[in-house]
Amino acid sequence: MKKLIIINGPNLNLLGKREPEIYGANSFEDFFKVLKEKYDKIQLEYYQSNIEGELIDKLHEVGFNYEGIILNAAAYTHTSVGIGDAVKGIETPVIEVHISNVHSREEFRHISYIAPNAKGVITGFGLQSYELAIQSFL
Ligand code: DQA
Repeated sequence: MKKLIIINGPNLNLLGKREPEIYGANSFEDFFKVLKEKYDKIQLEYYQSNIEGELIDKLHEVGFNYEGIILNAAAYTHTSVGIGDAVKGIETPVIEVHISNVHSREEFRHISYIAPNAKGVITGFGLQSYELAIQSFL
């Protein structure tokens, strides 16, 4: 069975409550339930942390034995050399995803420390960004 994991970074635990005009009204937990039912032929996991080092630890843990990582590092995308290096150092391909279109927002969001070592980037399709990433791994 194919093993994929969605890793969400800081503040994404507030999805549904946080700036709903940008990030939508659904919680990630509700969306993830739907994804699990729809993609029941794969082992799909979900991890969220607000802590940079915990995200790095999780990338190390899954990065040599999963088939794919779907990473929304949220604000750390634009700041974290450490997460960028972790993505570079592991073997599992990483797809960078964003709910909003980071390129239509503030300039600091146009920078990504993950993209140079990602398999690809999906940005701006709402929660569907995650589903497009899953499909690209299948
Ligand atoms: C985000 C975009 C980031 O710039 C922002 O810091 C987030 C969420 C997105 O999914 O659109 O927290 O990664």
